Amino acid sequence: MMNDSPLVLIAGDAHTEKAVSARWPKARIGGSFRDLSLLEYVASGIRPDIVVVDVSLSPRGETLEAWVSRFKAAYPSSTVSMLDGSSNRISQDVSEVPGQTTVLGSQTVVIWSPKGGVGKTFLSTNLACAASLASGGNAVLLDMDLCSGDVAVHLDLFDGPTITDLIPVLPDMRSEGLDKYTRRHGPSGLNVICGPRQPELSDLVTPEVVKSVLALASKRWGLTYVDTPPDMASDVVGECVDAATKIVLVTTQDVASLKQCRSAMDIFAKLGIPGSAMAVVVNRASKDSLMPLQKVEEFLGVELAGAVPEDRKAAERSVFEGRPLSLISKNEISEAVWGILDHLSPGLGRTTPKKKTPRRRGFFW
Ligand SMILES: Nc1ncnc2c1ncn2[C@@H]1O[C@H](COP(=O)(O)OP(=O)(O)OP(=O)(O)O)[C@@H](O)[C@H]1O
Ligand SMILES: [Mg+2]
Repeated sequence: MMNDSPLVLIAGDAHTEKAVSARWPKARIGGSFRDLSLLEYVASGIRPDIVVVDVSLSPRGETLEAWVSRFKAAYPSSTVSMLDGSSNRISQDVSEVPGQTTVLGSQTVVIWSPKGGVGKTFLSTNLACAASLASGGNAVLLDMDLCSGDVAVHLDLFDGPTITDLIPVLPDMRSEGLDKYTRRHGPSGLNVICGPRQPELSDLVTPEVVKSVLALASKRWGLTYVDTPPDMASDVVGECVDAATKIVLVTTQDVASLKQCRSAMDIFAKLGIPGSAMAVVVNRASKDSLMPLQKVEEFLGVELAGAVPEDRKAAERSVFEGRPLSLISKNEISEAVWGILDHLSPGLGRTTPKKKTPRRRGFFW
């Protein structure tokens, strides 16, 4: 059990201090800094029980995720917790999971593949719903497959605003203004910004619009998921990739899909996107495939972030009902999705009580 009056170090501002006092009224504040290096220096002397970091802070020369991992390695007995500025909430369960890192800060996860029909929309809707459940509704899914997006179909969201409706008011919009243009997926509480009603309206959604909406969305909800078209040359995909903290590359075990996945990874590497920003997921995984998952990893030269099994009947039914399988506990696809969520956002996939810790490696490997 965590100490009743834990020693807390804060990296943030007055809002962070207020949130810490609300969360741990008896906390002993060891110091409050705007600079992570300074916090690290002080931590070496006082060994805090908890470190609370405002997610909008950027450490010098590394990502916040890398800083947290390094800090955790140096001070394993300290719990590192994040303050999500958009909701002003400290990451959940921190007192129940001492010594764990629960990063519920700002993340933009772009689900993409150069190949059509591999399950981008299926995966993005499932992942985003799981993230919404785990974060208490602090997640949004944007349908950036502007010509033929079917996020609304997968989530059974008919009627309501779309991204084209917000364009006239975008220049003066604050992040809360997005609420009016967002649909709510009832079963998961996920916020959804749907694509244009007709494909011919897609031209209105310029790369500049995409950039602004992505920036506002990540400020408003913290956890942003983006479904995309299978088009590498599109400027819209370019904007999504630029905004991504993680790119989820979806492939199947099919050789053509794997070859395209490898070329895409090469291109991303040439664009200077580090391997750590990419996560490869095999969808429709089958143990009968001529390319077992271990061979897929060898071929792509990466460790997979996860493999979602093929289950045509369950997938078809879930799309028909607009209820992603990640909302159901006893299902292989659901387990795989929660495992991927935990891989992408360490700690998040463990926050739902009905779940046991998801298996990263199942019977496919
Ligand atoms: N793991 C799975 N098992 C069985 N069927 C699946 C699985 N994942 C997706 N599907 C089915 O495959 C079809 C294509 O999925 P989806 O629409 O998500 O692909 P996509 O990559 O988004 O396609 P597009 O490139 O056209 O946008 C859907 O009918 C979906 O139900
Ligand atoms: Mg799609």
